[in-house]
Order: sequence, then structure tokens, then C-alpha cells
Amino acid sequence: MNLKTTLIITFVVVIAVPLFLITIVFTGFMSLQPVEVATPQTREFLGEMLISVILIMAMTSSFLIVWIYRSILNPIETLKKATRNIRDGNLDFEVDIEDNYEIGELCADFEEMRLRLKETTEEKIVFDSQNKELISNISHDLKTPITAIKGYVEGLLDGVADTPEKQAKYLRTIYNKANDMDRLINELTFYSKIDTNRIPYTFSKINVREYFDDCIEDIGLELGQQQIRLTYTNQVAEDIMVIADAEQLKRVINNIVSNSIKYMDKPERFIDVRVLDVGDFVQIEIEDNGRGIATKDLPYIFDRFFRTDTSRNSSKGGSGIGLSIVQKIMEDHGGKVWVTSKEGKGTTMYFVLRKYQEVPVHEQDIDN
Ligand SMILES: Nc1ncnc2c1ncn2[C@@H]1O[C@H](COP(=O)(O)OP(=O)(O)O)[C@@H](O)[C@H]1O
Ligand SMILES: [Mg+2]
Repeated sequence: MNLKTTLIITFVVVIAVPLFLITIVFTGFMSLQPVEVATPQTREFLGEMLISVILIMAMTSSFLIVWIYRSILNPIETLKKATRNIRDGNLDFEVDIEDNYEIGELCADFEEMRLRLKETTEEKIVFDSQNKELISNISHDLKTPITAIKGYVEGLLDGVADTPEKQAKYLRTIYNKANDMDRLINELTFYSKIDTNRIPYTFSKINVREYFDDCIEDIGLELGQQQIRLTYTNQVAEDIMVIADAEQLKRVINNIVSNSIKYMDKPERFIDVRVLDVGDFVQIEIEDNGRGIATKDLPYIFDRFFRTDTSRNSSKGGSGIGLSIVQKIMEDHGGKVWVTSKEGKGTTMYFVLRKYQEVPVHEQDIDN
């Protein structure tokens, strides 16, 4: 039964029941009274009173019923329209809240639900478009080395590389391209772990001097092949330790260095790595003489999927997740990463790690 019918029945009952009862009482009163009491004037007076009571009751209940009808039905109408809008995927409307009582609260809750739904939908749209862009970047990034590898393998098969030197050069290029692909795939696998907070850290005590010496030796080999000059200074004392995950720290360095390589635009290319002692922290600086980053882009380069306009337009490909991974790993190490850069001149990436300090013996005593 709809609300309107319920209210009409209520109205009829509100009028009819008292009317019926009054009529019975009135008729009984008249029949029981001696004739001199029930004079025609008294009958007329009582009749008029009965009509007046009925009229007043009818008016009062009509007024009440219209009032209830309006206060319930109007908001219900609004909510009905709002629900239909949401069903049809339209979230750009507003639910008016007329009062603060039960129905008003319901409307307010509904409005809040609409706003949250709108927010989630907008986030999803952004996320979807970022994912699409990521897929197209990945395809580009994978396709470029694959095309090159195919080209060089064909060169070897067809005998274009006819001297041992040429063959060695072709094989080296194939190897480098395969490495690029390997790196990208690693980056993506890692990225999916970041998203679900499943990075498998294995923290251990690492000797800063030894770690960076080894690390630079590895990088040096690769950079040497690409004719990039690498300089390295380590000013940290020999016994300084940090607590870190050696593998993830290597990922940080690799991501930064691979950006330096990728965004080099000068014929003379160099990368300078400095490991410095800055009090309680060890600071690592990786400087390149690449194309640099515009000041307006600097605050965003650690954002996920962010690539500068020039990177987007360049043929270099890229997912825009390398530096967001760097930042996440550094945060999880309790350190931080930042950048300075001059467009056209070069970029320096910095990150710090807190030094490991043995708890002094006297403090151990206090603890125990
Ligand atoms: N050493 C660098 N020199 C110039 N630009 C850089 C350098 N490192 C990072 N960038 C800029 O920051 C952006 C984000 O870097 P990153 O997150 O590694 O994404 P990707 O390398 O996949 O584009 C890059 O697209 C590039 O524009
Ligand atoms: Mg990168």
C-alpha cells in the first residue's frame, strides 16, 4: 500500500471512529432523557455542536495529514530521483537537506555516500588512464630493445657482421638490450609488490665503504661499455655501518643511475658518485651532466607515473615508476631522497641512510 492510501485511510478512520462513537452516545443520550430535558432547542444545540466537532476534527486531521505527507513524501521523492541518477551513472547532482531530523539525516548520509562514490569513481578514472599509459609505455620500452635485438641477430645471421670485432660489438649490444628488458621487467614486478605492500625486505648490517666500493665496481663495468666516465669518492670511515637491505639499496642506485644514462644528451658523458659522512647519516650523491629537469617538474618527479613533458615526447620510453620505487624503498629504510637539477646542465640525486650505532655499554646496563 502506498503512503498516500495509508494516509487517506488514516484520515477516514480518524474522522469516522469518533463520529460513530459520538453518534451512538448522542442517540443513547437522547433516547434515555426525559422529554422535558430533550427539548427541540437542546436537540438543535447538540446537533450543531456535533457538526462543529466533526468540522474541527476534519480540518485538524486534514491539516496534520497534509503536513505528514509533505514532510515524508518530498524527501522521499528527492531520494528516489537521486537513486535513479546514481543507477544511471550520474553523480553530478546534490541532495538538498531540508531539516536535521531522521529524514534529513538520511538525506545527509545519502549525500555523503554520493560524494564518496564520486571521489572513488574519479580516482578510478585517473587510475585506469594511468594504467593504460603504463601499458603503452611498457610496450614501447619492450618493443624498442626487441626490435634492436632482432636487427642485430639478423645482422649476425646474414653475415653483415663479417669481422670478429663487428660480431663482438653486435653481441655486446644484444646483451645490453636484453639487460634493459630485464631491468624493466624487474621494475614492473617490483612495482606490483609496492602496490600491495609486499616488498620482501631483508635488513642487515652493511659496511658502507665495502658496499659502495663493490657496487661502483659493478656499475663501472656497465658504464665503461657505454663510454660514460664514472668518478667515485667515498669519504666515510671504514667501520661505518648502516642497516639496510643490500638488494633493494642496489635497486635504488640502479634506478638513479639508469635515469642518468637514459637522460644524457651530451657527447661527453659523466656520472659522479659521492658517499659522504654527514653526522648521524651517510649521504649518497649521484650527479650527472645530462639534460636536467625543469624547476617546475622537480616537485613531481618522485610521483608515480610522472614523466616530464620532454620524457613523454622523447623516444626513450619509460614507465614513470622508477623514482617512485626509489622513494618508497628509502622511506622504508627510514631515510629520504631528494634532487637538485639545472635544465640543460645536469641532475644530482641525494639520499641518506642513518648510521648504525652500537648501543653504548653503560646504556645497556641501565636498560637491564
Ligand atoms: N637524471 C635525470 N636527468 C633528467 N631527467 C630525469 C633524471 N632522472 C629522472 N628524470 C625525470 O624524471 C622522470 C621520472 O623518472 P622515473 O620515475 O625514473 O621514470 P622514467 O625513467 O620511467 O620516465 C623522468 O621521466 C625524467 O623526466
Ligand atoms: Mg627511470
